[in-house]
Amino acid sequence: MKKIQLDSRLAAAASFARRGKAFADVGTDHASLPIYLVGEGIAPRGVASDINEGPITRARINISGAGLGEKIAAVRTDGLSGLEEYAPEDVYVLGMGGELIWRIVSASELAKREGVRLIMQPMTRAAELRRGLTEGGFSIIDESLAEDERLGDGRIYQIIAAEYTGVREEYGEVELILGRHNIARGGEKLKKLADFAAEVLLTRARGLESASRDATPERKLAADILAAVKEKK
Ligand SMILES: C[S@@+](CC[C@H](N)C(=O)[O-])C[C@H]1O[C@@H](n2cnc3c(N)ncnc32)[C@H](O)[C@@H]1O
Repeated sequence: MKKIQLDSRLAAAASFARRGKAFADVGTDHASLPIYLVGEGIAPRGVASDINEGPITRARINISGAGLGEKIAAVRTDGLSGLEEYAPEDVYVLGMGGELIWRIVSASELAKREGVRLIMQPMTRAAELRRGLTEGGFSIIDESLAEDERLGDGRIYQIIAAEYTGVREEYGEVELILGRHNIARGGEKLKKLADFAAEVLLTRARGLESASRDATPERKLAADILAAVKEKK
């Protein structure tokens, strides 16, 4: 069987996999992650799902091409709906906007099941995803950052692993944006992420000020973000 080589973003998500656990990959598109997890013997079986016909057809073709049709089901569905019968324990929701990921997670009872771990990778609005998770009783158990050097665009991807506890956790604004575990760990990728987040806020501040409006909150948050990273150096 031909081996699948994951890019750094998907490899970082796969590194949260728990060996031997069945999985669901929601919004699978090419089914690269499911083929990798089963092909490498990390997971025994799983389900690859997608809401759209094109991606799920692509996934089916790739799964059967890899000879893994017996071990990876391919299902066309919205979010986690109907995936209970596959009893996934590691649930991946990768490569979508943070708000969409939270909509998918919050709409599902499966996401709250004991033993289920969510592994999420928001392309945008990571803070909104963290806000939903922490206010909704999910505990963020770990995080990591990835950069795709091949693209050379300096973009930093966030990967967030969470489990439902029912306990609401208090997070500050900077933690929502950068991630509590990421801040504790520090490093160059965190610094790049912080620089980018601060620059977005400062651009917004300049826009407000040029319209004679107050930008004190934006400037303060940008400064807090940079300070949180500086303390780690
Ligand atoms: C940009 S692709 C990401 C593919 C892959 N997960 C990755 O990270 O490389 C997003 C995929 O999510 C699917 N999608 C969007 N909304 C969805 C939903 N509500 N439920 C399931 N899949 C969804 C899209 O059809 C698309 O194939």
